[in-house]
Amino acid sequence: MSSTDLVTFPGRGGTGAEPGRPGVGRAHGKAILLGEHAVVYGAPALVMPMPQLTVTVHATRFACPGDGADKISFAIAGQHPAPVTPLVTDGLQYLVERFRERAAVTGRMCADVLIDSDIPQGRGLGSSAACARAAGLALAAAFGRPLDPAAVYDLVQASETVAHGRASGIDALATGATAPLLFRGGSARELPITLSGPRPAGVFVVADSGAGGSTKEAVELLRDRFEQDEQIKEAFVRRVSELTTAALRDLEDGRLTGFGAHMTENHRLLRDLGISTEPIDAMVEAALAAGGLGAKITGGGLGGCMIALAGDPGQAEAVAHGIQEAGAVRTWVVPVGRFASHDR
Ligand code: PMV
Repeated sequence: MSSTDLVTFPGRGGTGAEPGRPGVGRAHGKAILLGEHAVVYGAPALVMPMPQLTVTVHATRFACPGDGADKISFAIAGQHPAPVTPLVTDGLQYLVERFRERAAVTGRMCADVLIDSDIPQGRGLGSSAACARAAGLALAAAFGRPLDPAAVYDLVQASETVAHGRASGIDALATGATAPLLFRGGSARELPITLSGPRPAGVFVVADSGAGGSTKEAVELLRDRFEQDEQIKEAFVRRVSELTTAALRDLEDGRLTGFGAHMTENHRLLRDLGISTEPIDAMVEAALAAGGLGAKITGGGLGGCMIALAGDPGQAEAVAHGIQEAGAVRTWVVPVGRFASHDR
């Protein structure tokens, strides 16, 4: 893979440079199919976009007041009684600094940035990366400074590294991708999968345990564990690499049963390292008992979401029902395929 394999949306910028006209940026959630955590140490990972979970950001410039400082304020659009909540995160503040550098903005920057997101936070579905991506694109449009895909990736990565510590870059790419990706070492290639292809692509069910997880804590937990025992790290990264590579071949050849078995084995490795929780384990077992072909935790862990594979939509319904009975507070059914980018 080379840097030309990078898959990201182009910015929508180019117009709206004057105060008052909002710049708009969009991105979406993602679910990791195999390889989370190991991907931080160079293993490959498979990830799919979740187009039904979108984030839209409006950045509206205003004339800067006279005190000389930039004023970029972030807020989250919500529902009554708190329709807009101010948001201060180190990741987004850092994104603004990096945007100024990358976009070579020389004057002062003043804007209200409103984030409207369907992606639940702290659930391993890429909320922070998607917000950063959409915010970067909105700023680029508002300030009339279009960014190329590599610049958008760098902005999101910078923000993610502040938010999560060490970030592999998988969320930064997947939250702007329009097809499932094979990600490794900072770049990705699209998987040749379509909804109507000759081989069955399966249906994924993603389920929220209702408990927030912290990617930062989970990444640190594993880093400490691996620092104590290098062999555990090597065995984990090697085995996950094998599973992901085998699962990729299964997906390309339409062997859904094999793909599911590799997911479940990946879950057991993550669970044995302390990344899963009892509610997630119960949801994984329920998915398998309901006929799921495979199931695992997805994303950073220590809470958050799990993902299961079903062979067809009917089986997906049964699996979703089983997971709900086991305690899931929300489920999403995601057919694997391509979808139109936000820019078209
Ligand atoms: O943001 P999350 O919770 O989906 O985690 C991303 C996947 C990790 O491998 C845990 C971290 C990373 O940067 O790759």
